[in-house]
Amino acid sequence: MDFRFTEEQLLIQDVARRIARDKIAPSAEHHDRTGEFPLDNIRLLGENGLMGIEVPAEYGGAGMDSIAYVLAMVEIAAADAAHSTIMSVNNSLFCNGILTHGSEAQKQKYVREIAEGKEIGAFALTEPQSGSDATAMRCRAVKQADGSFVVNGKKSWITSGPVAKYIVLFAMTDPDQGARGITAFLIDTARDGFHRGKTEPKLGIRASATCEIEFADYVVRPDEVLGAEGQGFKIAMGVLDAGRIGIASQAIGIARAAYEATLAYVRERKAFGQPIGAFQMTQAKIADMKCKLDAATLLTLRAAWLKGQGQKFSTEAAVAKLTASEAAMWIAHQALQIHGGMGYSKEMPIERYFRDAKITEIYEGTSEIQRMVIARNETGLR
Ligand code: CAA
Repeated sequence: MDFRFTEEQLLIQDVARRIARDKIAPSAEHHDRTGEFPLDNIRLLGENGLMGIEVPAEYGGAGMDSIAYVLAMVEIAAADAAHSTIMSVNNSLFCNGILTHGSEAQKQKYVREIAEGKEIGAFALTEPQSGSDATAMRCRAVKQADGSFVVNGKKSWITSGPVAKYIVLFAMTDPDQGARGITAFLIDTARDGFHRGKTEPKLGIRASATCEIEFADYVVRPDEVLGAEGQGFKIAMGVLDAGRIGIASQAIGIARAAYEATLAYVRERKAFGQPIGAFQMTQAKIADMKCKLDAATLLTLRAAWLKGQGQKFSTEAAVAKLTASEAAMWIAHQALQIHGGMGYSKEMPIERYFRDAKITEIYEGTSEIQRMVIARNETGLR
């Protein structure tokens, strides 16, 4: 076992750290307050290879591995979680599924612009009445005699939906087949039949744009089907397995930012004649924060390593996402408590970390779904 990172991995971590420090952190409060989509910063991340870290260079990416992806995501999320949400959807949910299941022509057409950060991608699985129970989707794609499909229905909570050029869509093609009746499609948002609905006002990750989308007789050509007909659910689950490594990394970034701010604060802030970090009650919190942060980091790197080795990593990704997201929420909670009134104030970023951490326990599979995936895989029972 080798705990050292390669030179390449350290290089991308350094690139991400510099952009995070120089460009993202200074505008994080503005983006959180206004909810303005950070298009210029996303373009900059793209120019530096961070919108397609695992995408081969021939399709416009950085051609690096999953560990590099984790390291870069942590740096960006530590500066601003909303930026890392946009980054994770481009990298994991959009590019990864097309690279794994797309034809050569699809990879050429859809991946490059998104991996280069020139355009934004999205992933549409969730519907108003189906979130965790993803196979209960109602969005329908009906096959026509010429092999095309006509899509009708609604999708909700679409991260980057308001700005996406292309979307990976999952729709029911054969309702009698349940999970095996779902097919994945590549959607061009400029075409007739695609509509954007209301934008969601959110508790956290406010600069990441989220909306409903609707399809009204949208026609998908046969060459826009991703993978085989009826394979859509498996494609979605595989993509989400990898995506969960990204969300775990995001959670680690938020947790690290909250932890580092707290370490500085407990050294400085005095009460009853001494720094509050000298009190045992604070020290216990600091020790527990450190343990949870390290555990989340190592578990996430393990999942990324397994993925890079081409081994199964579904359980490990769920373990990493569950551990990291719950650690982030707990650490942000403790950070706020230790900061007291200053933590509750918008003068410091602690309350933003607290709000941003919450989503990591919800999207790309709630904590309850992660426990279900882990327990089903461990017991073989369902
Ligand atoms: N990889 C490949 N195939 C998989 C798989 C995986 N990880 N997990 C399940 N499958 C396959 C199964 O083998 C099964 O195949 P067969 O039909 O050949 O047997 C099929 O998929 C159906 O599996 P299940 O019977 O286990 O399906 P289920 O209905 O019980 O659901 C679930 C399983 C794990 C609960 C799944 O529905 C799930 O993960 N739900 C959560 C959905 C989710 O994460 N949503 C997030 C939305 S996207 C988002 O949040 C993006 C964003 O905004 C940033």
